[in-house]
Amino acid sequence: MSADSGYFDLTFLCDVTAQSVFHHRLVGAAMYLSVALCFLVLTSAAGQTESAPGSSYVAAVYEHHPVLNPEPRVPLSRPEALRHVLKNLEIYEEQSERAAQLGAQILVFPEDGLQGFNFSRSSISGYLETIPDPQQENWNPCTEPGRHNNTEILQALSCMARRYNLYLVANMADLQPCPLTTSPSSPCPPDGHWQFNTNVVFRSDGHLVARYHKQNLYFENAFDTPPQPEIITFETPFAGTFGLLTCFDILFHEPIITLVERGVRQLIFPTAWMNQLPLLDTIQFQQAFSLGANVTLLASNIRNNHLIMTGSGIYTPFSATYHHAQRGDPEEGRLLVARVPVLEPLGEGHRVTSEEGTVRKKSTSSTDTDSGYCHQESCLDSLYPEATSAVSPSSVTFTSSMMYDPFTFVLLNETEGQLDVCHGTVCCHLQYRQSQQGHSKELYALGAFAGTHTVNGRYALQVCALVRCAGLESSTCGQEVEEAETKMDFLLEAMFGTRYVYPSILASRYVLEQPELLEKTADGRVTMKHSNMTGGLVTACLYGRMYHRDNK
Ligand SMILES: *[C@@H]1O[C@H](CO)[C@@H](O)[C@H](O)[C@H]1NC(C)=O
Ligand SMILES: *[C@@H]1O[C@H](CO)[C@@H](O)[C@H](O)[C@H]1NC(C)=O
Ligand SMILES: *[C@@H]1O[C@H](CO)[C@@H](O)[C@H](O)[C@H]1NC(C)=O
Ligand SMILES: *[C@@H]1O[C@H](CO)[C@@H](O)[C@H](O)[C@H]1NC(C)=O
Ligand SMILES: *[C@@H]1O[C@H](CO)[C@@H](O)[C@H](O)[C@H]1NC(C)=O
Repeated sequence: MSADSGYFDLTFLCDVTAQSVFHHRLVGAAMYLSVALCFLVLTSAAGQTESAPGSSYVAAVYEHHPVLNPEPRVPLSRPEALRHVLKNLEIYEEQSERAAQLGAQILVFPEDGLQGFNFSRSSISGYLETIPDPQQENWNPCTEPGRHNNTEILQALSCMARRYNLYLVANMADLQPCPLTTSPSSPCPPDGHWQFNTNVVFRSDGHLVARYHKQNLYFENAFDTPPQPEIITFETPFAGTFGLLTCFDILFHEPIITLVERGVRQLIFPTAWMNQLPLLDTIQFQQAFSLGANVTLLASNIRNNHLIMTGSGIYTPFSATYHHAQRGDPEEGRLLVARVPVLEPLGEGHRVTSEEGTVRKKSTSSTDTDSGYCHQESCLDSLYPEATSAVSPSSVTFTSSMMYDPFTFVLLNETEGQLDVCHGTVCCHLQYRQSQQGHSKELYALGAFAGTHTVNGRYALQVCALVRCAGLESSTCGQEVEEAETKMDFLLEAMFGTRYVYPSILASRYVLEQPELLEKTADGRVTMKHSNMTGGLVTACLYGRMYHRDNK
């Protein structure tokens, strides 16, 4: 059954501190926002939402504060490496038990959660296991431990899944002898084997059911890029199909857009993400992706202050249950558990819409999907000539770097008004009204950027962002700022040359707000409207990914 046949009045989470939970009904763009501090009684929750069996399930993600190897560049023997991993496995074990007690049917652990980071290709050797391909071989490491040598980590994870009767997703290091697959463009590494950053999935009886090798590495000397992108899914009895990605993958076409275009709407996202305000904070982009692609995202991050890693959550197009540590919080793990709807693959007609990443579109004529849409992204290009001279910016513009990209900005110099700002192929329009001013003056600016981001990764963008500037000088616009007191009602709008536009609204001190209205027209115009903020505005963003231009 499909998610729109019922709404999920009970997104709940069970944890010791305050976290935000919101529920969103798309019908009529009405929004129900609530902040919950809760230990909801699980059984009553389950009772209410399970009237239609299989329409919802309980997901869990664990933000893990890993026990690290203090000298990751020094190779360890296998027994030493296992002694280290065991410390993290013990925490996984405790959390699996807790998650199971709270009814979780699937539990996700983060990227690098077992061994940590900063290994070299050789120093990680003690941590490597050769993970058999579950598409070739049916294996339960817990019940058949003798079948493959050197698989202690796989056995431990498999037994955890089995003991607590839940699907378990973890990330570990895989060694595959060459040739895995032969490809002229990616020959076998010189030392004769591949090393992959790998997600593994165990069924609730312990069977290894999926193995995914990370495609888009982020400065990971220990690992290889797989010879070809892997599109990996697995089936569950409680929620159907899930797809796998890892960390940096979320910014690229492979594997995620291929998964989404194939109709996979539930994605699992182990990550070790270094936060970067104002546009790519963890929870901000996790929610943006869920909303933009109309999918569920189960995101599990590492917790590490030094590396600015925190921010995990369970996101659906209708709800978000998340955790983002604040400065000064103790550095510790966090389990999140939420009941969420099963998202069925959308039918053909709908799927185009979901690929467009919209929540609602202006025209609701049923013939829309067949008439107005471009089915290839590249065909949208012709609609967006390079020059945008037709729209004249409404005010004095300046250039300031945001996320290492040269945005064109215009200041919001009144308490309400309208602004336009263009950069290259994108023109951003803003209508705004300050509904509450803080005690001290805060400066805001509207920024536009169209082009290829080239620092720490290369990807093509069209972005519109309303940001709070870090100070009162325009040169501070685009810099990181965590807090704000100014509340704003706004409408942010632009024509995009891609249907992949990820919307976010980040309020003061890492609180997410669900846009009151998101609309998309057949010709690529995206509108995000919001009012009645619960906190000061840090960033409102429409982040368009021009995947088709990445290699240009
Ligand atoms: C990894 O190395 C970088 C620099 O090489 C350093 O800044 C960072 O702290 C290291 N991380 C860990 C977890 O050791
Ligand atoms: C495991 O290792 C032992 C000792 O090296 C060896 O005798 C055995 O054949 C190996 N088993 C498998 C399945 O590779
Ligand atoms: C998003 O998915 C829901 C069902 O899961 C569907 O009702 C809705 O039409 C989709 N939205 C878009 C914009 O495709
Ligand atoms: C704000 O900017 C506009 C356009 O530059 C200008 O016309 C207006 O006078 C400015 N308002 C204030 C209060 O400075
Ligand atoms: C915002 O708040 C005002 C005043 O409380 C209310 O009239 C209005 O309906 C609210 N708007 C939305 C979209 O909730």
